[in-house]
Amino acid sequence: MTKFNRIIILTGAGISAESGLDTFRDKGGIWEKYDLTQVATPEAFARDPDMVHEFYNLRRGMVKNVHPNPAHKALARLEQEYPGEILLVTQNVDDLHEKAGSKNICHMHGELGKVRCQACREVMMWWDDLDRHTDCPVCEKKGRIRPHIVWFGEIPFDLNKIGQYLENSDLFISIGTSGTVYPAAGFVQAAMDAGAHTVELNREPSDGYSLFEETHYGPATQVVPQYVEKLLKEAYA
Ligand code: APR
Repeated sequence: MTKFNRIIILTGAGISAESGLDTFRDKGGIWEKYDLTQVATPEAFARDPDMVHEFYNLRRGMVKNVHPNPAHKALARLEQEYPGEILLVTQNVDDLHEKAGSKNICHMHGELGKVRCQACREVMMWWDDLDRHTDCPVCEKKGRIRPHIVWFGEIPFDLNKIGQYLENSDLFISIGTSGTVYPAAGFVQAAMDAGAHTVELNREPSDGYSLFEETHYGPATQVVPQYVEKLLKEAYA
């Protein structure tokens, strides 16, 4: 008898920190090094596409050289072995959940390994550098390709699907996110309204920590595998 039937998991940059990728708001994080209004808004891209392309070329290059850690692998194991439905919603734009073997994933903030042509709307896998002169391989228009990333002020992807899942979930697990950016930061409230059990796994209490019924703090590579082990044991108790 499984204890939970529909699990929704939200991950943030903290789950990839131990793989060597910077988080955004920790000391020395991305937003300490870059001004987000210069590299992560549609206005920035219109104003200085070269700077925005350079920012994402750098991050794309970094992601190519890192590997999933035990926290990513534990979530992939949970999806494979747990006798219930699981949806993994990630705010991360790296592909470490895919590399770890997770399948049912929503990248609500987009993906570093994809680009989108603003002329023909084609979304393509793309791990090379991009610049303002790159031709679209589909419609051949020049300089119309952008990172397939949700910038500040844009609408995140898959919100309807995520909302429906939250309404019918009975377990919500938030991992490695500071709980500062909406709409993701509001998911715990929606899960609570649906009567789901809410769990925070993080290095330290997030902004929304008081909304969680259960919390486990420590590095993701420790607390996530431990929690997955506990879920699997209880599912088959
Ligand atoms: N293990 C677990 N948690 C960790 C670890 C770790 N090794 N290292 C850091 N953390 C936690 C931090 O304590 C923090 O709560 O991960 C969280 C990272 O928070 P942010 O840097 O704000 O990243 P995130 O919550 O994913 O940001 C959300 O903001 O800038 C936008 O689009 C960007 O998707 C991002 C969104």
